[in-house]
Amino acid sequence: MSQHPSSRPAGALTADTEILVALRAAGSGGVSGAELAQRLRVTRAAVWARIQELRQLGYDIAANPHDGYRLVSAPDLLLADDIASRLGPVRVVGRDLRVFRETTSTSDIVERLAQANVPEGVVVFAEAQTRGRGRLGRHWHSPAGKGLWFSVLLRPRLRPAEATRLTIATATALARGIQAQAGLTVAIKWPNDLLLRGRKVAGILTELSAELDRIKYLIVGVGVDVNVGAQEFSPDLRRHATSLAAEAGRPLDRAELAVAVLRALDHDYQRVTDGRFDEIADEWAARCTTLGQPVAITVGERRIRGRAEALDTDGALLVRTEHGHLERVIGGDIRLEK
Ligand code: BTN
Repeated sequence: MSQHPSSRPAGALTADTEILVALRAAGSGGVSGAELAQRLRVTRAAVWARIQELRQLGYDIAANPHDGYRLVSAPDLLLADDIASRLGPVRVVGRDLRVFRETTSTSDIVERLAQANVPEGVVVFAEAQTRGRGRLGRHWHSPAGKGLWFSVLLRPRLRPAEATRLTIATATALARGIQAQAGLTVAIKWPNDLLLRGRKVAGILTELSAELDRIKYLIVGVGVDVNVGAQEFSPDLRRHATSLAAEAGRPLDRAELAVAVLRALDHDYQRVTDGRFDEIADEWAARCTTLGQPVAITVGERRIRGRAEALDTDGALLVRTEHGHLERVIGGDIRLEK
């Protein structure tokens, strides 16, 4: 596992973040070395050294005596400083960002951070995962530089039975982030799949550590196939999976998408913790293609068939079974029946 050079621990903005914030704010006008030096309280030579390092990471930064420094382009890399500089202030989600070049699973790292009592809100991204995991013990294909593979640590004051709320809040936040950034309207398949034209483009894996009546912490793992080429999916996956780029017909800026999604997540996490989950549930229901459909759900050894009627207040799916009973389903493998 290797951390990017710009990985950022919690706390104050780093020099790189401040430089990127200033360059972005200045736009085509540029910002002078003297001004940057003053902002960072360092010498102009030190600013120059930081600029050189950013260039080595792939930032195209023009320098001329008139305008000073100007950001021409940013690399297609997830860098903690870069994401932080675009994100700006957040309440909880994303106030501590860490990016790894490669790891087994971002959720493994967050698990270790959780056990080390790191505060909630830390987000761990990886460019690639060697053992990315999906729901129901499935493997999650996580090729380098092609997606958003990240996990968030949350410590909500909720009961374990209410954990589904966070999965649902994440799904709505993802849908809004994708809409804002890629202009694509995603459908939600209960409880955690995001679909475009019937194919899966993103998934959520919520894992929790809990006592009987209290969540200790919750790890929300998110995988979004952003720039994965159609031919990069295994033949198995190809029929069921797609990417944002394949649907939008153009590659997308992963860092911009990460920012849009984190902002939406921070907002929706606040709605959950403020007791406004009903707003999220309404939004979720409007996007959900599962409601009203005949479904077959496998929960362990059990198979439930019926019609998906509604979402319960805690995020469980209410299914009217073929025998006329109303069943609450909190998880499982769901198939829409034709
Ligand atoms: C699913 O739909 O089955 C859930 C997929 C979740 C994948 C993400 S990628 C980042 C995080 N780390 C993992 O190992 N899994 C989640």
